[in-house]
Amino acid sequence: MSEPLLQVRNLKTYFYTLKGVVKAVDDVSFELNRGESLGIAGESGCGKSTLAFSLIRLVPPPGKIAGGSIIFQGRDITKLSEEEFRREVRWQGISMVFQGAMNVLNPVYTVGDQIAELFMVHKGYTKQEGLKEAERLLQMVGIDPRRVKSYPFELSGGMKQRVVIAMALALSPPLVIADEPTTALDVVVQAQIMNLLKKLKQELKTSIILISHDLSLIAELADKVAIMYGGKIVEYGQSDLVYNNPQHPYTKGLLGSIPRLRGEIKDLTWIPGTPPDLINPPPGCRFHPRCPYAMDKCKKEEPPIIEVEKGHYVACWLYA
Ligand SMILES: Nc1ncnc2c1ncn2[C@@H]1O[C@H](COP(=O)(O)OP(=O)(O)OP(=O)(O)O)[C@@H](O)[C@H]1O
Ligand code: SF4
Ligand SMILES: [Mg+2]
Repeated sequence: MSEPLLQVRNLKTYFYTLKGVVKAVDDVSFELNRGESLGIAGESGCGKSTLAFSLIRLVPPPGKIAGGSIIFQGRDITKLSEEEFRREVRWQGISMVFQGAMNVLNPVYTVGDQIAELFMVHKGYTKQEGLKEAERLLQMVGIDPRRVKSYPFELSGGMKQRVVIAMALALSPPLVIADEPTTALDVVVQAQIMNLLKKLKQELKTSIILISHDLSLIAELADKVAIMYGGKIVEYGQSDLVYNNPQHPYTKGLLGSIPRLRGEIKDLTWIPGTPPDLINPPPGCRFHPRCPYAMDKCKKEEPPIIEVEKGHYVACWLYA
């Protein structure tokens, strides 16, 4: 039996803005075993980053976790004090490569100093010991260890992204969240970063949550995939099941919009319409205004999530 690493139950994360409450993550549940990787996909604004921020408890104000639980290694981390969470979970249990992260490296410190600091703060290492670790980590992510002395501006975009990944791995967390880690990189560097993540998954047995609007990237890495729409998971399960046998009309649309090398252009589909307003989401199924199969019931009642085959879940009235 594999051991559960993370169990997210009915998680709600809302932003309390002057215009109203933005229900960015609304009743989301999923599970991840140790060493297993999950891809989260969906259009811009569907709540992917907010879900990630919730897991590492860095939801920016005016947002907060409004309900549900996040059981990580057997305990509900939403119940820990900020001090306990910082000391015991953030970076050593769960770390994150933030969206646009390569721009968050501090320009006035060398990359070695920035990596070493993590060891000095969390493990009480000396500067010298921290720098040794920095060299080891740079090597691991495919950068010449002598680069510890480089400043961020001396590195290419791809190298900076590797440094940020090295920092996320520094304290050997069992779970690393990578939020759009290859956006803004050219395709060659994108492939290198994906290969690096695959290597970490295989060699270090790190669980990775890979967030991307690009389902073809997720297919390369993830054992499981969750499709988000309007703050909810609408389809979820083992990757091969979801990719080979998509059930939710939205997932079918998303997969249809991946150009296939051997496919004909006429095979391409796209999803007309715009993503829902998360302050006043459409009643019933949030996808109904854009769904070609919408029925009367879809406009009134929210579809329950049901298991359509073992390990494959869908929230859609077509199957309930
Ligand atoms: N600080 C904030 N204040 C108010 N609303 C926010 C804030 N951050 C995010 N939101 C809203 O929460 C919703 C989800 O945003 P989120 O950034 O999680 O989406 P995403 O799926 O990561 O999108 P993208 O693919 O563009 O990164 C959006 O409607 C967004 O406008
Ligand atoms: S519940 Fe109805 S509107 Fe929603 S995806 Fe299924 S068929 Fe379409
Ligand atoms: Mg995002």
